[in-house]
Amino acid sequence: MEYLKLNNGIKIPMIGLGIYNLNDEDVIVKAIDDIGYRLIDTARMYGNEKILGRAIKRCKVPREELFITTKVYSPDRGYEKTKFAIEDSLKNLGLDYIDLMLIHEPYKEGLEMYKALEEAVQEGKVKSIGISNYNRKQYLDLLKHCNIVPAVNQVEAHVFYGREELQKTLEGSGTAIEAWSPLAAGKNDIFNNKILLEIGRKYNKTSAQIALKYLLSRNMIIIPKSENTKRLKQNIDLFDFELTKEDMEKIKTLDNKKSLFGWYD
Ligand SMILES: NC(=O)c1ccc[n+]([C@@H]2O[C@H](COP(=O)([O-])OP(=O)(O)OC[C@H]3O[C@@H](n4cnc5c(N)ncnc54)[C@H](OP(=O)(O)O)[C@@H]3O)[C@@H](O)[C@H]2O)c1
Repeated sequence: MEYLKLNNGIKIPMIGLGIYNLNDEDVIVKAIDDIGYRLIDTARMYGNEKILGRAIKRCKVPREELFITTKVYSPDRGYEKTKFAIEDSLKNLGLDYIDLMLIHEPYKEGLEMYKALEEAVQEGKVKSIGISNYNRKQYLDLLKHCNIVPAVNQVEAHVFYGREELQKTLEGSGTAIEAWSPLAAGKNDIFNNKILLEIGRKYNKTSAQIALKYLLSRNMIIIPKSENTKRLKQNIDLFDFELTKEDMEKIKTLDNKKSLFGWYD
């Protein structure tokens, strides 16, 4: 596994398992113990923090080698509610600290929520904090008011929506970009895409692996979801080849610079 150093010096695995709609404890244990996943991405919204908590307890990998992300969301709007949410997530996950806690999307109470997250860092309950689904303007607004620069902004990013400008802004101020739906959730017939298949043939890799490698090569953290052992293995087997500049340019032609999920820039 390769790691990226966040702005607080903490290292985050560059590939994680996203568990939206993945509620099978055995799959999570297997992904950690047998396949080598260390970063697991959940959210209070997904309703599976307790399932993840049981998997963490069962797996053989020491806690400190894991990197657990969760997110506060709409019902946690407000300072006190976010304070409560942090305690609740710690309990659900059975942990005494969370590696990364994000605000799931911009809310008008975002600043108070962020303040509660900042305090949780001081208290040692959360190691790193960040945001999700913030566009450039929303991110720059937060920067003006926060004490801790977000470690991460988790946003939609895949070959069809490359987020180049947002990434430049984020990295310019020390925030890493983490790609959600890095396989575009299968949209646009991504797995049969001619360009991805053709490049894949050169390296004996699948279209999915090429799509993921493209993001990794651009310094993005990725959290593909799979419940299938073969595909879980594929999605982490990305470090034994490099895309050329020409490959990268070809893949870049797929970028429509538009969300596939109705988010706005
Ligand atoms: N912050 C946010 O607002 C937000 C929003 C959306 C998602 N997320 C996070 O991002 C994670 C991933 O996003 P996602 O689940 O929407 O989409 P995704 O990871 O882009 O795609 C998942 C889909 O692709 C299939 N797949 C996975 N690996 C494959 C492979 N190697 N070859 C062929 N098919 C493959 C999966 O099916 P199988 O399971 O059958 O393999 C599943 O149908 C989520 O689980 C969640 O943690 C965050």
